[in-house]
Amino acid sequence: MLKLLLTSLLATVAWCQNNTNSTTFTNPILDAENADPWVIRHDDWYYLILSDYDKISLSRSRVLTNWNDAESKLLFQAPPGLNYSTDIWAPEVHNLNGAWYIIFTADPRADSPPPEVDMWCEYSCPAVHHRMYVLEGHGTSPWTTNFTYKSQLDTYDQFAIDGTYFQHSSGLYHIYSCWYRQYDAWPANLCITKLENPWTVSSPFSERQIISVPSLPWEKTPYGRASNDRLSSNEGPEQLTNPTTGQQFVIFSAARSDNRNYCLAMLELVGTNPLNPADWRKHQYPVFYQNPEEQAYGVGHASFVKSPDGTEDWIVYHGMKDPLNGWSARTIRTQKFTWNEDGTPNFPKPGYGPYTVPSGQA
Ligand SMILES: *[C@@H]1O[C@H](CO)[C@@H](O)[C@H](O)[C@H]1NC(C)=O
Ligand SMILES: *[C@@H]1O[C@H](CO)[C@@H](O)[C@H](O)[C@H]1NC(C)=O
Ligand SMILES: *[C@@H]1O[C@H](CO)[C@@H](O)[C@H](O)[C@H]1NC(C)=O
Ligand SMILES: *[C@@H]1O[C@H](CO)[C@@H](O)[C@H](O)[C@H]1NC(C)=O
Repeated sequence: MLKLLLTSLLATVAWCQNNTNSTTFTNPILDAENADPWVIRHDDWYYLILSDYDKISLSRSRVLTNWNDAESKLLFQAPPGLNYSTDIWAPEVHNLNGAWYIIFTADPRADSPPPEVDMWCEYSCPAVHHRMYVLEGHGTSPWTTNFTYKSQLDTYDQFAIDGTYFQHSSGLYHIYSCWYRQYDAWPANLCITKLENPWTVSSPFSERQIISVPSLPWEKTPYGRASNDRLSSNEGPEQLTNPTTGQQFVIFSAARSDNRNYCLAMLELVGTNPLNPADWRKHQYPVFYQNPEEQAYGVGHASFVKSPDGTEDWIVYHGMKDPLNGWSARTIRTQKFTWNEDGTPNFPKPGYGPYTVPSGQA
């Protein structure tokens, strides 16, 4: 009993030290190593979907700003020995056509291809067999839905990671991180294909289009690397719609996820055909990037969600305090963002707060 009391007393002290109270919060919002956060708000709950090697789990919370005590459940455990059994990355859960779909990235053998596959790659290519997969389920919320394996999402037997759905008046699309050819390894670009439904691609390989390549200095690693495209990447694409103007954006991550330079970049659909690369315009500078003054580094792989009362837009992303610790330094953060006069998103500088909680948070 005494121990319990002491524990709760210590917890209260820690809580005060964080400057966290009912009107403010601090980052990170989950005190554990985690990456690629994807959040959806549904029926007054926030749902956070995460992966861990061969599992996909879902947490739910009434507040966006603290996931330490959130309820959590296993949504999917990959069976062993299959092409999607290991290294599950970047799951997302979407409600499309009245059903729930989880889209995720996975690999057959923990990113260690046999030597006679690796030898064909231009550079070492551990992720050469990473592909996109889809789970499906029917239920009123992702929490009560039983998900079952539906299909691989065709990427023409080529590298594919971080896939997402892009919804447009002309149909549904798949946007994902891709290579030019099967064994390139780098650069990692953004590709788009057209979907017939959430698990079936309708465009043949000849219609697969590359809508972004990491060609600007800040999309390369190290910055401006001149000699080759090793570590130059575009990945983690996410659709973002301006709620007032309807402008369509794809916010994606650029450079390299294991160091301080990882950042968010932006494409805007300025034409009417998402399959036409010329209909996309890339912003020439990153839109969300490291803030050394607050020790916020390597910020990327965002998702977007509304405040409880629907009036504010929030970005949920991962970042590092210690950029020397690579992937294991990543934790999950959130901040409010607004919109510029020209309709583009106006992201804040990444930091730790304290910040005012989302509008309508009890
Ligand atoms: C506050 O900080 C302490 C110590 O750093 C940490 O253990 C605790 O989980 C934090 N609480 C919240 C709500 O962030
Ligand atoms: C919560 O914390 C913030 C920042 O430390 C402070 O300005 C505010 O007055 C606090 N609010 C309450 C209700 O304690
Ligand atoms: C597993 O992946 C390999 C390499 O991409 C592919 O050749 C093979 O057809 C896949 N197997 C199944 C059952 O999809
Ligand atoms: C999910 O599966 C569980 C256990 O088999 C079952 O009790 C529950 O009714 C199912 N839920 C739905 C929405 O089908």
